[in-house]
Amino acid sequence: MGAREAAVEPGMERAGHGSGQGAAAPDEGPVASHLLPATASVGADQSLSVGGVDLVTLAEEHGTPLFVYDEDHLRSRCAEAKEAFGEGTAYATKAFLCKAMARLAWEEGLWLDVSTAGELHVALSAGVPAGRLVLHGNNKSDAEIERALAAGVGKIVVDSHDELHRLERALGEAGGARHGGRNGGRTARVLVRVTPGVEAHTHEFVRTGQEDSKFGFGLASGEAGRAIERLCRMRGVEVVGVHAHIGSQVFRVESFAEEVEALAGFFSPLGLQELSIGGGLGVAYVGAEHAPSIAEWAMAVRGACRRAGIPEEVQVTAEPGRAIAATAGMTLYTVGTVKELPGIRTYVAVDGGMSDNPRPVLYGSGYEAFLPRCAAAPRPRAVRVVGKHCESGDVVVADARVPLSLEVGDVLATPVTGAYGYSMASNYNKVPRPEVVFVSGSTARVVVRREVEEDMVRLDV
Ligand code: LLP
Repeated sequence: MGAREAAVEPGMERAGHGSGQGAAAPDEGPVASHLLPATASVGADQSLSVGGVDLVTLAEEHGTPLFVYDEDHLRSRCAEAKEAFGEGTAYATKAFLCKAMARLAWEEGLWLDVSTAGELHVALSAGVPAGRLVLHGNNKSDAEIERALAAGVGKIVVDSHDELHRLERALGEAGGARHGGRNGGRTARVLVRVTPGVEAHTHEFVRTGQEDSKFGFGLASGEAGRAIERLCRMRGVEVVGVHAHIGSQVFRVESFAEEVEALAGFFSPLGLQELSIGGGLGVAYVGAEHAPSIAEWAMAVRGACRRAGIPEEVQVTAEPGRAIAATAGMTLYTVGTVKELPGIRTYVAVDGGMSDNPRPVLYGSGYEAFLPRCAAAPRPRAVRVVGKHCESGDVVVADARVPLSLEVGDVLATPVTGAYGYSMASNYNKVPRPEVVFVSGSTARVVVRREVEEDMVRLDV
């Protein structure tokens, strides 16, 4: 593990977010198999299939840009998380959410972490029982709290004193209206979000465990203790546990062990049933990166719990998002122009960009690119893959290596776009959001339809 981390961390520091830009020489061989979904396979003609479906044919039939998810990969990551951490483990829906994904995670035995009324609505619309949902968010509105109580969400993670006040008020109102009231006098099962004072090695935008944070109650300041005391006095509240989340795209499992150490002294004397360590496990985006598995992550966390004296019977849960969805998905684009600037660089423009993947612009994140029609081909040609938006920052892959044969009209794929791609997509420049398909057993099913131009005026009045 040590050597792997050493290979990864310098890249994260320089490029900002586990990206690989500048971390190591870009990979000129065929795209590395650990960046591809589990069922990816290269045929005799060198073309790539996922879930038994040929990607170039899929792009021809469904159009581009297209998000393609390997359903079997998603299911096996969910099952791995459930197996590794046990009951109560949740899928962090912010990574990628649509009704099909919500159902899939629930079918595989996970809870769902929702952090807004919108995510709550999608999960409920998918038929996921409210009792399997955990509501997050650092600024839950009255309406969100009331909606969650009315639906009967399984757990609420409280984040601030203002929110405690809102919860108290909502429960009071619901209790007062017990007969036919909104939550029927139900008890809210609550976890308290704390900031453990642990700085995860990741981009500062997605680092959340440090004291100086908008999230949660500080441990060192005593706020977390005060929140628990106040909750214990509140009617209609059952305090079930403590939650923390140190950040996202974290490669070092030791960071999570440090989190457990920081939490143990506070958590153990409370005698509560659940310790949620949040999400955050990193994934490899480029060939030179390697990330720990969910099982390795869980093992490190369990070891830290035992060392810190956290009793065996405590439910230690986690909320992976990226580790479940990222590698399961990839984006297919069509190459529209190839612009060679002698002595400068070559720009390959595709039919999407920062509207379907804002991560390169936001975090300087690196990706790889390859041609599914010749997935086993070497990629000696250095190009910059850009989108179709009206700004120079609209970069898809800053430092890509592609096969020499790349030409206009080719389907070009960027792997590992399954997390925080579609979920952060926008309509910038009124570019319609792509279609999303799940592939499995040699069939593709559309799970989110492609937006059309008429959708660009759907909300206009
Ligand atoms: N639990 C909580 C409370 C969270 O805030 C998050 C992510 C997760 C779980 C899931 O974290 P994951 O396992 O996916 O790392 N847009 C950024 C990532 C932001 C993550 C926010 N919170 C990106 O594209 O890298």
